[in-house]
Amino acid sequence: MHHLNNFTPFRPIMQATSQFPFANLSSELVLLIFTHAARPTFFKTGDDSDVSKNPYASALSLCRVSKIVRRTVLPELLRTILLPGYNNVTAFVHALRMQQAFALHENDLRFDYAGRIDRIWFGQICEPPPQAPLYGSFVSSTTSERDIDFSLLAPVLLSAPSLALDFESLWLLYGCLESAWSSHINMNDPERAPLPWRADNLTLVGEFNRWRPLTSTAEGSAFLASISRLSFLSPSRAETHLLPTYDPCFNDLEHWKYPLPEWMTSVPWDSFKRLQTVSLVLPRIVLTVAAKTSLSEENVDVELLTLFDPPRSTYWEPKDISAYIESGEGCVVSVGVRTKLGDSSIQFTVSFDWEEAWACGLLK
Ligand SMILES: *[C@@H]1O[C@H](CO)[C@@H](O)[C@H](O)[C@H]1NC(C)=O
Ligand SMILES: *[C@@H]1O[C@H](CO)[C@@H](O)[C@H](O)[C@H]1NC(C)=O
Repeated sequence: MHHLNNFTPFRPIMQATSQFPFANLSSELVLLIFTHAARPTFFKTGDDSDVSKNPYASALSLCRVSKIVRRTVLPELLRTILLPGYNNVTAFVHALRMQQAFALHENDLRFDYAGRIDRIWFGQICEPPPQAPLYGSFVSSTTSERDIDFSLLAPVLLSAPSLALDFESLWLLYGCLESAWSSHINMNDPERAPLPWRADNLTLVGEFNRWRPLTSTAEGSAFLASISRLSFLSPSRAETHLLPTYDPCFNDLEHWKYPLPEWMTSVPWDSFKRLQTVSLVLPRIVLTVAAKTSLSEENVDVELLTLFDPPRSTYWEPKDISAYIESGEGCVVSVGVRTKLGDSSIQFTVSFDWEEAWACGLLK
């Protein structure tokens, strides 16, 4: 491993410690250090250069050191996958397509992503409009389908135990479920075969509830039925309360004497056969005036309510939040989430960086 000495990211360290004999360490120790260095940093510091920084940057440069280092750091890189936009998904599918080719040719760079991913996040990714076939040429009409090849994406996405999607991105989940289901039901005994997904924790982000595409298909219903933890990160239209100063000690139940949000009654609760807990961000969020006027992003405390006895049927009457807490059916934790300011400076809008909080493990 003589070329480790030439590895740029470690140069500053080596200079600071004057010729640290990095290459003299045992290879186990070196690989352990690389694994640690490859851990993505999801927490963005206030510094702008950091906000735009790819959280996987260190892991990606380490992958270029050598095949052994790449093989060592890839599991670290794959543990939490963030795909915030359409191009990130197509880039990911492209990597999967390359892996398919590597596997076919028994290339040293092959690495099976399926089963390596613990958690995967899809940002607000709209379905591309179907392209009209051009005259005399049907080839070009399949471009967008080839961009996102569900037969490649499905085994990897569905092998993750924890899945987070914006409501806008649910088409990606349908596509994967459909792709995995057709081979599942073609098995000899689909009733007994294990389900073609491992998702256990489902986090849904965003404003609207459109459940029909899931509840109306066999695979969608089977998927919902298998989820045990459901979370909603949705109040982008939070009722924000502006206080001159934030008083952190109003802990009494009075503060939670308001009903669960209305949209909860439109969730098809009877589809979730194995649901153990449901969590949601409470819609009353206190913003201090400082948070309103400051142009920088800030950390705001949002409250995450977890219900231990989720509703079992669609006909269900939400109680006041305080009632769930009082009876021990629910509990609230406070989580610091970064705000993102809306574009318009005249009309104050606030949205939250759920992606960062989720990636950092604050919102499970
Ligand atoms: C997503 O893609 C953009 C540009 O294509 C890139 O700058 C960004 O780092 C990517 N994000 C992640 C988390 O890979
Ligand atoms: C699923 O959620 C539970 C409870 O929040 C958490 O303990 C567990 O680690 C989560 N699983 C994954 C794979 O994130």
